Order: sequence, then C-alpha cells, then structure tokens
Amino acid sequence: MKVLTIGSMNIDHVYSVDHIVQPGETLTTGSMNIYLGGKGINQSMAVAKAGAEVYHSGMIGKDGTLFLEACKEYGVNSDYIRKINEKTGHTIIQVDKNAQNCILLYGGANQCLTEEFVDEVLSHFEKDDILLLQNEVNLLPYIIDKAYEMGMQIALNPSPFDDKLHACDLSKISIFLLNEIEGGQITGETEPAAILDKLQELYPEARIVLTLGKDGAVYAHKDERYEQPIFKVQAVDTTAAGDTFTGYFLAGLIDGMAVPDILRMSAKASSIAVTRPGAVQSIPYRSEVEEALK
Ligand code: RIB
Repeated sequence: MKVLTIGSMNIDHVYSVDHIVQPGETLTTGSMNIYLGGKGINQSMAVAKAGAEVYHSGMIGKDGTLFLEACKEYGVNSDYIRKINEKTGHTIIQVDKNAQNCILLYGGANQCLTEEFVDEVLSHFEKDDILLLQNEVNLLPYIIDKAYEMGMQIALNPSPFDDKLHACDLSKISIFLLNEIEGGQITGETEPAAILDKLQELYPEARIVLTLGKDGAVYAHKDERYEQPIFKVQAVDTTAAGDTFTGYFLAGLIDGMAVPDILRMSAKASSIAVTRPGAVQSIPYRSEVEEALK
C-alpha cells in the first residue's frame, strides 16, 4: 500500500517576534530564517520519516529545487513533482515568545494544478492506495472525485479551512485528520465531543482524528473512541506539529498498529517536532520517536 500526497510546497520565511503583529502596528522582528514547509510536503516527510512509502506530487517554480533535494534526503519519491514557470508557494510566519505562530500564505505554483496533471499522477496508483490531501492546492473537488472513483482511500486534513472545502464531497473521505477549529467549521459545533458526534453522524464510515492542541487528540471510528494526551515539552516552534501527527498516524495505520499505540507515537513525534524550529527539518525520525517512548 502506497501513500500519495498531492499537496503544497512552501518556502517558509519565519520571523521571531515578541507578539503577533497587530493591525496598524510596525513590529521589529528578531531572527529570520528560511525553511522548507507547506502542509503537503511536511506531511509527506512525516510519513517517510515514520517509515512508510510515500510519493509527493505538486508544483514548484524554478526557485523550488531545494524541495527535490529534500525529498531525496528524507526518502520521499519526487517523480510526480512538476517544475513550472511560476513562483513556488511561500509563507511569512511569525513565531511569538510562546511558540505560537500565525501564517500568511502565498499559493503560487501550488494553485496551478491542472486536471491533466492530476489524471497523469493518479494513473500511477491503484485501488486501496492512500491519497493524502490538505487544502493548500487547487482542484481539491476534482482530485477527491477521481481518487474515489479509483477506489483509493482518501485521508483529508482540511487545513487551512476555507469556502473551497464546501465544494468537496466529504462523504468520499475515509480518514479525517483535523483540529478543533476545522472540526468546528465543518460541523458548527464547539465542544470536542459534539464535534466528533456530528462528524460521525455526517460521515459514519470515516475514521476521525481530532487534535486539540494542549488537550491532546481524540480518535473516533464507529463505536471506538480513544483519547491521547500531549507529552509536555518546552516548545520553540509549533509549525508542522499537526503535520507530524498526521504523517505518523497514517504510517502507523499502514503498519497495522493498534490505534492507541498509533496515537501515542504520533503525539510523541509532534512533541519532538515542536522543540525544533522550522517545518520539514523539525520532524523526527521513527527511531528517535521510539527511543523517546521507551
Ligand atoms: O502546517 C505548517 C505549514 O503551514 C507551514 O510549513 C506553512 O508552509 C503552512 O503551509
């Protein structure tokens, strides 16, 4: 079983700030670093670092060659990444003294997928392979419909949540991996238990992983429910914590692990990621996670 991510690649410009800049304010920053990120590639890297076979697909500009090198370094297949005449997606990320962030996202090449490109990529995959999606590329409704027709299992991290997701047929999703805010936006509920109840009512066959920040994560599938607290650490940068969780969760499922063990491994992986700056580079390898769990 292979994992294919059709997802974003962003060059993250990360500024350390005292507080998140307010409307009308000019704020002098501390350090500025450039990292490889984007929810799509972060999640592909997490799947790979957790030990599963993963293919990443998406678009970059001429300024995006570093992503191809990183794929090689971390063991992500990059055969279906296309270079086009556009700027690679980028972000401006502020990280405050409490390690909280806020992100401005310029889609660039991530928003240039075509139906012909998607069809070509999907033709290399088959029934039961897993397609991992986020909401940082265009054509999501088309991609979901095509992959569903093929019988692929679709895992969706509906992040960042926006109106475009309303055009997607979410009944075709096998696995939702989302945070409380996204869960609230889909269901109209605010309490985690109510969000889970509503998601299960809407999508009774789907597995649901709801992350709750400092309150950990909860999982629901049919009659099963599990809770996973966080591992407390001194965070320096929470960017890609959710992506790490998502990648590790999928890799654990592919390994056939029991769900409580997958949740524990994913939470530990995220707790390590937040102790390091950046996105792709902050995601730990499986060996580090297993060592830390001992
Ligand atoms: O989830 C973290 C990612 O979100 C960052 O790497 C940034 O690129 C944004 O897409």
